[in-house]
Amino acid sequence: MEYKIIDFQQHGDNRGMLVALENSKEIPFIIRRIYYLYNTGKNVRRGYHAHRKLQQILICVSGSCVIHLDDGVQTAEITLNKPYEGLYIANNMWREMYSFSEDAVLLALASELYDESDYIRDYQEFCRYVQEQKN
Ligand code: TYD
Repeated sequence: MEYKIIDFQQHGDNRGMLVALENSKEIPFIIRRIYYLYNTGKNVRRGYHAHRKLQQILICVSGSCVIHLDDGVQTAEITLNKPYEGLYIANNMWREMYSFSEDAVLLALASELYDESDYIRDYQEFCRYVQEQKN
């Protein structure tokens, strides 16, 4: 499956911790958009989409949440609970996010601007799409 956990370098001293992220260094693409989810309800599960082109890195900068990934063949559940850990997700990957803690802030760094035509929001369509890509 085309995802990976990236451990970012932590710059720490007696004042606290700091993580710095730069295009094409820690982040394997040019960041074109940043957004974040917060105040997510206790039993909310969201996402339910894949992207044709967009790659992204998710960082739970506060609290914790779980990311469900599905490439049409395999699935994975990844817990994010460290502000220095990024989850890289390639394109063509179905994702759902759930089990948000009350204090969860999920930061997303995206390779593309917001473009609804890049989304696949129907799971059956996603399965057909990834199958077509292989043929
Ligand atoms: P939505 O795509 O439903 O979130 P998710 O699929 O991750 O659960 O996005 C919620 C709303 O925010 C929707 O009206 C679209 C809007 N939105 C933007 O305007 N820009 C963005 O970059 C994103 C991610 C969402």
